[in-house]
Amino acid sequence: MTTRWFLLSTLLLCAPAASHAEDAAVLWDKSCKNCHGPDGRAQTRMGQKESIPDMSRAAWQKAESDAHLRDVIANGSSHNPKMKAYKDRLSPEQMDALVRYIRTFKPQEKAP
Ligand code: HEC
Repeated sequence: MTTRWFLLSTLLLCAPAASHAEDAAVLWDKSCKNCHGPDGRAQTRMGQKESIPDMSRAAWQKAESDAHLRDVIANGSSHNPKMKAYKDRLSPEQMDALVRYIRTFKPQEKAP
């Protein structure tokens, strides 16, 4: 593959990603927020009860690979059955978008 083709395909892959960012937010609000919270910090009843990790922590963001997040979303968590498999309910594109969405829960620099 030439560099030019590489750049072009990268552009083509990224363009729809940008326009789907909003869809991911809607998906998150609909399917994930109840447990993980609107900001991924899991300040919810379920979050507290199940000790769901705070996705906005820098250490968490660093420790978890995209592949791992994608795997947990698709197949559920092996540690906790409350985190269900979503592969029958979401398309691969939607799951990828959710991984990218989770990456936006970066720690706020000024967070207390
Ligand atoms: C019924 C509550 C519930 C809902 C709804 C839910 N989760 Fe979870 N999720 C959990 C729990 C509990 C864990 C912790 C599992 C563990 O300890 O490994 C978890 C873990 C995760 C993890 C892995 C975290 C880690 O540190 O390994 C990801 C990624 C994740 N959830 C994404 C999602 C996404 C995306 C959705 C929406 C499509 C969603 N979850 C919906 C309860 C939920």
